[in-house]
Amino acid sequence: MTTTVLELEDVTLNFSGVRSLDGVSLEIREGETFGIIGPNGAGKSSLFNCVSGVYRPQQGSIRHRGQEIRGARPDRINARGIGRTFQNVESFPTMTVLDSVLLGCISKQRAGVLRGMLWYGWAAREERESRAKAEEVLEMFGLGALRDTRMGELPGGTQRQVELCRALAAEPDVLLLDEPVAGMTHDEVESMVDAILDANERLGLTVVLIEHNMGVVMDICDRIAVLDFGRLVAVGTPSEIGANPEVLAAYLGSAQADSA
Ligand SMILES: Nc1ncnc2c1ncn2[C@@H]1O[C@H](COP(=O)(O)OP(=O)(O)OP(=O)(O)O)[C@@H](O)[C@H]1O
Ligand SMILES: [Mg+2]
Repeated sequence: MTTTVLELEDVTLNFSGVRSLDGVSLEIREGETFGIIGPNGAGKSSLFNCVSGVYRPQQGSIRHRGQEIRGARPDRINARGIGRTFQNVESFPTMTVLDSVLLGCISKQRAGVLRGMLWYGWAAREERESRAKAEEVLEMFGLGALRDTRMGELPGGTQRQVELCRALAAEPDVLLLDEPVAGMTHDEVESMVDAILDANERLGLTVVLIEHNMGVVMDICDRIAVLDFGRLVAVGTPSEIGANPEVLAAYLGSAQADSA
């Protein structure tokens, strides 16, 4: 039996007159690699922002393993097991790679500052466990040697890999990746694709991936959803999506609009 990990029902998001998402309903299944494609401004990042608690949709329901999460705080959603990376790398340039990955563990740590002062030993143990987790994830992706390097000294592609490690350090069961290979060289794309497949196959994570790189989407996704003007146009396997006339129209339509 397939388990539904994430379920969106009739999700609608408005920004003063702009409808970013228009009644989107989707089910994402345990263990799948799910792609989200669509022209610029289609609402793809908005959808991630709704699922991860950055935006609160005016209408609809978002469930994680059957529990409503619409409107919950981003750190709570992260602590439930939904990790994400952002379209634009958001790291601090002077922070080391290890510290950047450690940031990912924060939502897992239960000892706040006050509790940390009262029960120092407990907080110290959590800190040690977080460090071990961060180092393990970096090693797994071959980035262990860069642990003390400052983020600002790394090429963009490697920064994106560290962001992936940061998301993984919180031990999510669902990973939302917003354009993980944008702006990467061919080699960087290959190693990022390997890392994503590792997360999916070796760690067993459900991966939801927004991407403009159609080669990557077609290659690694089990199913693909197409958004256009905030509406869900189609969901299907890569071959179904590649042959769908509405999908071609959405892309050709936006290409014509761009060249007009
Ligand atoms: N914080 C916001 N305030 C106002 N409008 C927003 C906000 N976030 C998104 N939008 C609008 O919602 C629509 C969808 O934007 P979104 O960023 O979700 O698109 P996208 O599909 O991720 O595009 P791209 O491929 O360019 O990243 C756009 O019209 C955008 O201007
Ligand atoms: Mg986007």
